[in-house]
Amino acid sequence: MDWKTKLIHSDVEIPSGFRALVPPVHRGSTVVFDSAAAMTDDWRQDRVGYTYGLYGTPTAMELAARVGELEGARHTFLTPGGQAAIALIWLALTSAGDHALVPDHVYGPNRVFARRVMRRFGVAVDFYPPTIGAGIAEWIRDETKLVWCESPGSITMEVQDVPAIVAAAHERGARVALDNTYAAGVHFDAFAHGVDVSMQALTKYVGGHSDLLLGTVSLRDESLYEPIGRTHAGIGFNASPDDCSLALRGLQTLAVRLDALERSTLEVARWLAARPEVEAVLHPALPSCPGHEIWRRDFTGSTSVFSVVFDARYTGAQLEAFADALQLFELGYSWGGVTSLVVPVPGPPRDHASPRMRSLVRFNVGLESTADLIADLEQALGRLGE
Ligand SMILES: Cc1ncc(COP(=O)(O)O)c(C=O)c1O
Repeated sequence: MDWKTKLIHSDVEIPSGFRALVPPVHRGSTVVFDSAAAMTDDWRQDRVGYTYGLYGTPTAMELAARVGELEGARHTFLTPGGQAAIALIWLALTSAGDHALVPDHVYGPNRVFARRVMRRFGVAVDFYPPTIGAGIAEWIRDETKLVWCESPGSITMEVQDVPAIVAAAHERGARVALDNTYAAGVHFDAFAHGVDVSMQALTKYVGGHSDLLLGTVSLRDESLYEPIGRTHAGIGFNASPDDCSLALRGLQTLAVRLDALERSTLEVARWLAARPEVEAVLHPALPSCPGHEIWRRDFTGSTSVFSVVFDARYTGAQLEAFADALQLFELGYSWGGVTSLVVPVPGPPRDHASPRMRSLVRFNVGLESTADLIADLEQALGRLGE
């Protein structure tokens, strides 16, 4: 063979049997088949074997299966980020003419997608008060096909009575989808609490180092496998094998990171709760958080995100100056990594506003020394009244 052909079709042989502790990174779009008769582009690779890189290389399949194992799911699909997982659920489970219910405290881009995209496709959407519990029954119509939950919710952190919402939704034949990112898929057992579809942004705790974006959609009910899988394949959501490899590495230290984050976050939250500048700390493990009792009943732990309602005398501009004065808490979105973060939130958009929803400051505690973080908060609070 000409050397140019050898570049593509080589005869070299390397030893087999390399057994490392970590799963290899399998890259690849094309998958080759043993015979023409064996060729198929079926997306159901867990049933028919590998067919095309888009549907997952072994690295992606391993990550999906590992997350599914932790969540007690039957199938888990990977998406390029958490928001993509949200979009996948919407597109797979609703059609024109359907109605969907979304908690008012939902992650902002989910709200925007519901309003701007799903409504355009003919799906009616209502935003319900997140602490409504069994009262959701009054919001459910004959056309309601999907009820979203996010617990605790973004920014205002209300913990939802998911089992009560599930019971009411199932009574009327609606599916329940949960954004289970806060609990990292481990501190709240979505399927044991009756949820049909559980999604996570692996971007947060599984990745754990602010260096990747990935999402998952997990299901237990076999009847959801085809609609979600078909939509997943049709949109062409791909998860990079390199990112999957980083997420697999992240999984190995998830338990120790979650333990450390929980401890440090609680210490910081309790310290803030005792400060005169603070009206309330919205941390699910503190009684001042709406739904705290439900958190105690349904969760096995808390994580690293919480919000603070400052005393009403402080203006939004003062809270921004406070955030600017922090040295260790960086100004940045997302959470779940090793770096402490702060976001001043000037009144989150809500249909059902409560007085709590004026200016808040959201914190994410990282893996820095807790004492240093508290000292940083103390010096910035000292400048709050200036
Ligand atoms: C609750 C929640 N869900 C979903 C997402 C979306 O995840 P990603 O950033 O991976 O798209 C986020 C991101 O901030 C989030 O906070």
